Amino acid sequence: MKPVILLGIESSCDDTSAAILKNGAILSNCVANQDAHQLYGGVVPEVASRAHQVNIIPVVDMALKKAGVTKEELDGVAFTRGPGLMGSLVVGVSFAKAFAMALDIPLVEVNHMDAHILAHFIDEPKPQFPFLCLTVSGGHTQIVLVRDYMDMEVIGKTIDDAAGEAFDKTGKLLGLSYPAGPIIDKKAREGEVKFEFVEPRIEGLDFSFSGLKTAILYFLKRNIKEKPDFITENLNDICASVQARIVSILMNKLIKASKQTGINEIAIAGGVSANSALRAALQTEGAERGWNTYIPQFQYCTDNAAMIAMAGYFKYQKGIFSGQEVTPLARY
Ligand code: KG4
Ligand code: ZN
Repeated sequence: MKPVILLGIESSCDDTSAAILKNGAILSNCVANQDAHQLYGGVVPEVASRAHQVNIIPVVDMALKKAGVTKEELDGVAFTRGPGLMGSLVVGVSFAKAFAMALDIPLVEVNHMDAHILAHFIDEPKPQFPFLCLTVSGGHTQIVLVRDYMDMEVIGKTIDDAAGEAFDKTGKLLGLSYPAGPIIDKKAREGEVKFEFVEPRIEGLDFSFSGLKTAILYFLKRNIKEKPDFITENLNDICASVQARIVSILMNKLIKASKQTGINEIAIAGGVSANSALRAALQTEGAERGWNTYIPQFQYCTDNAAMIAMAGYFKYQKGIFSGQEVTPLARY
């Protein structure tokens, strides 16, 4: 049988990415990051959209070149239809449509959040169905019950901020650049958990992070009033303390979800799954509770097109394609 070669395109937020997949194996995964947003303390949609326009063709060219594949060899184009920023999605969706039309090959639309979860099928070991996936990114925080590649149920979600937002907003209060998650992670390794932030009491499997953000704001204000240099003198410890609380909020709900469903196959996905404390906590809890745990490689945690190509491959095999009338869905 002829191998299936797919191009994956991801442009939902501020990273432009292209990947080539051949029969379920990733041959290349190229990402162009946008540093401009650091200046603004968050993603500026208009800036992101323009940068995607500049980056998309070079990134696709690079992905093809690295994989040693010509565009004529492609069998389909998988792309992120949503959720994400409309101006960013439009660039990837329009590119994918034009490319597929020019090459006369099928288009496969992918839900970005499903793709974060399906990134677990890129490498070994692969989770067994059904499994639970804590999907934590800059825009989402969910516990998903995954019954099959295309059968997923969100059983818990944030009622306000996402976990990545909690990291990024804390970083803004501390004067760190965007995205602050990786910076807090690094500084926390040099610090100790010295400050206590209360855990919100939210029913069931849902999460809340807005109270934590307010608590951090008042904690900083109070301490700066007494000691103007409080942040600089205690930065690593503040980072370690905030990170520990975010991780414990996530882990406690994951433990609850495992108990409720009786599922011991536990995965994490999304940008925040790159966090070293969350990865360590999952391993420790997993060993204690007899879970089989699944943590993606760093390059497949944050936004990437490899996961889009992988998710697209499962749909491609079933012949689930989109027409040229497909448009982006900011709230997929
Ligand atoms: O999945 P992702 O790349 O983009 C979205 O779909 O949102 O996630 C980005 C989020 C940002 O909030 C970023 O601060 C966070 O992931 N992040 C981290 C780490 N690496 C990325 N948060 C904590 N620790 C990290 N090491
Ligand atoms: Zn993402």
